[in-house]
Amino acid sequence: MINELFGLQGKIAMITGAGQGLGQGYAINLAKAGCTCVCTDLSVERLSDTVAAIKEQGGKALALEMNVTERSSIQSALNTVMEEYGSIDIVVNNAGTEIAEPFLQVTPEHYDAIMGVNHKGTFFVMQEAAKYMKKQGNGKIINIGSLGSFIGLADSSVYCSSKGAVVQLTKTAAIELAPYNIQVNAIAPGYFLTTMTKPFFEDDAHREWIENRIPLGKVGTTDDLAGTVIFLASNASNYITGHVLIVDGGWLAS
Ligand SMILES: NC(=O)c1ccc[n+]([C@@H]2O[C@H](COP(=O)([O-])OP(=O)(O)OC[C@H]3O[C@@H](n4cnc5c(N)ncnc54)[C@H](O)[C@@H]3O)[C@@H](O)[C@H]2O)c1
Repeated sequence: MINELFGLQGKIAMITGAGQGLGQGYAINLAKAGCTCVCTDLSVERLSDTVAAIKEQGGKALALEMNVTERSSIQSALNTVMEEYGSIDIVVNNAGTEIAEPFLQVTPEHYDAIMGVNHKGTFFVMQEAAKYMKKQGNGKIINIGSLGSFIGLADSSVYCSSKGAVVQLTKTAAIELAPYNIQVNAIAPGYFLTTMTKPFFEDDAHREWIENRIPLGKVGTTDDLAGTVIFLASNASNYITGHVLIVDGGWLAS
């Protein structure tokens, strides 16, 4: 029963931005749950630690270069997945970027850089993967939002805009892809220590502001996201679509 609900044995999962941080965690934990993980990032070299960690634990992984801002790069990676495995069951749209700066200083170049990865990247990875999932008659897409999907965060105007848009995109795609048995959901992580958030944690005032608002009393680790990504990738969530699961130790509630 538990295996029928949550088992992911033999499923093919593609994770974007899997070279470090939360994406690396999703890949390692999905592999632990039985998935063959197609780990993608800006270069294959960036993926060596992730693939080594998966193989060390006896899991299956493939490293592929994929820049989510380029449609041809997305198509080429997905072609390889189909040639290699013949299906794409799960996509975790994790690749993301942030340039923290005051609203009044944001340049069009910075705007495009953030929206290009966080929103446009998510949009077209989802669209290209969904074409294959439609043919298969099933699929699980997991997008990555943020606390900034719900609230404004200072010096993150473009980032919060992009993550708010990811939530709206998740809901719209969930409706349009439901007839093909494709579930589209999102995870909104709270604060996790990664390369992206390191500058916040290095600033004492900012770190205290973050930590003092976490009712569960600790900053998250990638293992705190494991159950959520496995749940949204598995049969256990087959009747859930267009949902955003907040994983933040209670931060947003407080
Ligand atoms: N760390 C947090 O606390 C936190 C909180 C909420 C949401 N998030 C979101 O989680 C995701 C991962 O964040 P993280 O903290 O691990 O960040 P990170 O900066 O550590 O990792 C991001 C990864 O994305 C990859 N990437 C960047 N641009 C890319 C592109 N064009 N194509 C393919 N890959 C690209 C990078 O190479 C890197 O491996 C992001 O979407 C982020 O917005 C993070």
